[in-house]
Amino acid sequence: MIRTDRIVIVGAGLGALYAALELAPRPVLMISPEALGDGASSAWAQGGVAAAMAASDSPEAHAADTVTAGAGTVDAEVAAMVTRVARDHILDLTSLGTPFDRAADGGYVMSREAAHSAARVVRVQGDQAGKQIMETLIAALRATPSAQVIEGALATRLETDGDRVTGVWVSSAGEPSGEVLISAPTVLLAGGGSGGLYAHTTNPPRIRGQVIGMAARAGALMADPEFVQFHPTSFDIGEDPAPLATEALRGEGATLINRHGDRFMLDIHPDAELAPRDIVARAIFAETQAGNRPMLDTRAALGAEVLTLFPSVAETCARAGIDPVADPIPVAVAAHYHMGGVAADQNGRTSLEGLWVCGEASSTGLHGANRLASNGLLEALVYARNAAADIAQALPQTEAAPVAVSFPDGGNAPDRQAVADLRQTMTDHVGVRRTASGLKTALRTIARLEDAHSDDPSFLNMTATATLIAAAALARTESRGGHWRDDFPAQNPDLAHRTLITLRDAMALRDAAAKDAE
Ligand code: SIN
Repeated sequence: MIRTDRIVIVGAGLGALYAALELAPRPVLMISPEALGDGASSAWAQGGVAAAMAASDSPEAHAADTVTAGAGTVDAEVAAMVTRVARDHILDLTSLGTPFDRAADGGYVMSREAAHSAARVVRVQGDQAGKQIMETLIAALRATPSAQVIEGALATRLETDGDRVTGVWVSSAGEPSGEVLISAPTVLLAGGGSGGLYAHTTNPPRIRGQVIGMAARAGALMADPEFVQFHPTSFDIGEDPAPLATEALRGEGATLINRHGDRFMLDIHPDAELAPRDIVARAIFAETQAGNRPMLDTRAALGAEVLTLFPSVAETCARAGIDPVADPIPVAVAAHYHMGGVAADQNGRTSLEGLWVCGEASSTGLHGANRLASNGLLEALVYARNAAADIAQALPQTEAAPVAVSFPDGGNAPDRQAVADLRQTMTDHVGVRRTASGLKTALRTIARLEDAHSDDPSFLNMTATATLIAAAALARTESRGGHWRDDFPAQNPDLAHRTLITLRDAMALRDAAAKDAE
């Protein structure tokens, strides 16, 4: 066991880095599975950060769009708080050196994304926002002596004493190893969402719900796990993970067509391609299921400019042998963002003492049933700062020596087939369209996989999150936002509230599903 007074931050994405900087000079210890900057969803974010920066826009309008997109379950106070401070965070990122795109008059260049009533997404070099913001924060962190980063370490479980978190177990993220307990007074979870629990995802390979599952297994209260956002336009080119074709392309006028050349969104929603993301995702899914091969057509709107204005998209096209100037891009839906996660108050506090959370691992009430585009990075920034301030207030300022970790022998390599089976089950039965019978099938499969691999704590974290998603989806007998039930296609006004659930509750639903099959 290692004992430290450092604040332990699990994760190394945007929220983790920003929190470490906010906490300085308090000593922190970041647990990063990869080299800093690799493997974090934030670095893959293309769109940017939503913030009312234009004189013609306002935080109130941004909050109203957030509430509308969230389909009846957004916490309006949270939306007001987050959108009010958005501008300050953009100015702070700018002063740290983030090279946001600027107009000739010095104003921020704004992208338009779905369900925003204004162009409101600050961006960097078109589709490079996540990468560039991460590079800026990493450079700042490297110059911050209070921050220690352990690279190549994977958090596997939380240590608890009653309802108090007292530390984190970690193992090697590379070769299998035994676990080491890092005993610490405070833990901040900032380790991403769960998109990689699905066979089709835009998330980096390591993001498979482990951090959410770790908190659930320690007894933390969870919120809204059934609400998973599927992005309508991932590249359908057989890659895992599926590269993103940013929604900002549709903001620039790119259209969605099928192999017959029909612009199918015109018949589905008055905002057509810029309808709320869940509606566009279901339309794309239906086209795929019908064999109509949906495609994103940037030709008329962007012509050759797509190559210079959207470098990530251009790079993926080149790799896949697609010329977007001449041909439309084949697209499919992919799990992209988890609105649910560890329940957090406005300071990122969880139901367990000593445990805070920020970013996609959290569920704050901002996103409701359907996150407004580019509110994800914003939420990570706001809650990283709030949590850091709250932790700083709760803890005396201490000195702490750097920590040396060496992993004991032991452990098992993750079973790739079990992970693949879990992901396929989630896509087949807990995906864009759900039914009671499919969700029960999924719960039984998750239980079987969990029993067969109960010696792998990382896999147990994945199955815990998968159980929460499927069980809460089974319990929500309506369709709302990203959660669609073929057997309950209408929205039920009595269910216009958030889900609060523990893993124990979800396991009870899973056990009941198993009994149904007997
Ligand atoms: C995108 O660029 O389309 C994704 C933005 C987001 O998910 O917020």
